[in-house]
Amino acid sequence: MSINPAPLRRVREFEREQAVLIPAHERPLFHLTPLVGWMNDPNGFCWYNGQYHLFYQYHPFSRSWGPMHWGHAVSKDLLHWTYEPCALAPDTAADAGGCFSGSAVPMPDGRLMLMYTGVQPAGTFRRETQAQCVAFGDGVNFEKSLLNPVIRHAHLPQKGYSPFDFRDPKVWQDEKDGLYYLVAGNRHEERQGTIVLFSSRDGLDWQFRGELDASSSEYGRMWECPDFFPLGEKQVLIVSPQEMHAREEFHAGYGTVALIGTYDKAHCRFVREEVRPVDHGLNFYAPQTVQAPDGRRIMIGWMDNWETCKEAPRRHAWYGQMSAPREVTLENGRLMQRPVREFETLWQDTVTHENITVQQETALPGVSGRLLDLSVTLYADSSSCRRFILRVARGEGHYVQILCELARGELVFDRSRGGSHRDIAHTRHVTAEMRDGRLSLRLLMDKESVELFINGGERVVTSLIPTPLESDGITFAADAPIRVDVTAHHLG
Ligand code: FRU
Repeated sequence: MSINPAPLRRVREFEREQAVLIPAHERPLFHLTPLVGWMNDPNGFCWYNGQYHLFYQYHPFSRSWGPMHWGHAVSKDLLHWTYEPCALAPDTAADAGGCFSGSAVPMPDGRLMLMYTGVQPAGTFRRETQAQCVAFGDGVNFEKSLLNPVIRHAHLPQKGYSPFDFRDPKVWQDEKDGLYYLVAGNRHEERQGTIVLFSSRDGLDWQFRGELDASSSEYGRMWECPDFFPLGEKQVLIVSPQEMHAREEFHAGYGTVALIGTYDKAHCRFVREEVRPVDHGLNFYAPQTVQAPDGRRIMIGWMDNWETCKEAPRRHAWYGQMSAPREVTLENGRLMQRPVREFETLWQDTVTHENITVQQETALPGVSGRLLDLSVTLYADSSSCRRFILRVARGEGHYVQILCELARGELVFDRSRGGSHRDIAHTRHVTAEMRDGRLSLRLLMDKESVELFINGGERVVTSLIPTPLESDGITFAADAPIRVDVTAHHLG
């Protein structure tokens, strides 16, 4: 029960009326879309009472961003989602300007705790302020604390921290000391994007424990949507910076960054050792992870960003989708991502072409479609081939191109012929080097998106494609004969 249930009741009624008007075939197969209206960031991704819960930034009343609610869906396998009614609406003084991003943690007493950012309409500061709020519930209905906001600007050390950019708490419970910890983003006057750490015994009374890391204007301005978790021998801090400058492997604009390092829990000190992009695609932002009951670390992001969503077509009654769930691991110090193994349960007809030689542009029997898990392995051994071209979503005047510059060790993802009528970024250049004489590509295609995993997930390119669904051809070509293996699992 919310403290002021009327707005939430209205949203839930609206959902009941409107959601039935959206037929299942109007949605992707396995990517989560909003029940109705608009979706952005994943929120509250957790395993609770025998299933995954995924909440999301939600504006039910239109296909554009608006006063933020939390939508909600549950799943046992991360691929088939069942909608739950809207979980949070902006209906208290602490969050009247919106319930922004946050997270969830199961409590020892059986309740689920949601930590989220309450936006408070302009008051003394003449600008909206942001502070952290808590709600407790049973996995469907949540009661917001009367003490909200439970973490305010005043909880931060005196100097430099912003009351306006202070958001996106990611909470967890420490197994050893039993305390709740959370990280949140703040924009500091000097250090720009910073990640601050708090701890609490009960989720209500929070203490500032330190600052874990900062952009110092190197990696963008504000750091949004942090996540912080151990992985292998290391600790990973994931942030989504705004306004990055292109540098190293990072593209300009809204990015996703993994800071890999070590964590000294006793002193709450994170030491950064490596900085890497999480995803190189055109549409990926604000990811959040969960630890599965079997120990896997699983990540889902918003398959969009604040620049790309502005120009995107609104073809359906809903707008916005989550990325595919990926298992993340650390291998040789590198963050690897692979589609979760549950995808195998969607494989239907499998077509394999092994050890074939490709040069002139060619289609392969049984290899086409827009619902596919497609693997392509290129072998360098036999060949003087320097350039390989894979085109997907091919049809009348359209294709999405994956160009492998084998000699240069670079891949160019290009959707500029993919059906867009907007003059926005459509290409990405990504390092893609041969490993032991081979380059492997795995593509997940789910109607209007492509997620490309290079060399077992060492780099990922996630992109929406606006291509009409009738364009479902796939072709292979190279500038000299090259040996290739192709496996296409149709998904259903
Ligand atoms: C990230 C973000 C968050 C914020 C939310 C608002 O995409 O800007 O920082 O909480 O979206 O919807």
